[in-house]
Amino acid sequence: MKKTSIIKLKKNIKHSICNFGFSKKMPYCDNAHRDYNKINNTNYKSVKVCLLNDDKIEISCSDWPDEK
Ligand code: FES
Repeated sequence: MKKTSIIKLKKNIKHSICNFGFSKKMPYCDNAHRDYNKINNTNYKSVKVCLLNDDKIEISCSDWPDEK
């Protein structure tokens, strides 16, 4: 996985982005945070993004795992 990703997003659709790196569909959230939160008593949540126009965005997070 990459710490930085460039992704294409469609307008008016809410996209969930993983903010802590446990998703198997990085950079998108696959709800793995829910199980992690239950086991570890934490409260991680995804970042929601909704664009006003179709566009590409560059996103990054220092908590994401390095590319393998
Ligand atoms: S799996 Fe990472 S925020 Fe949901």
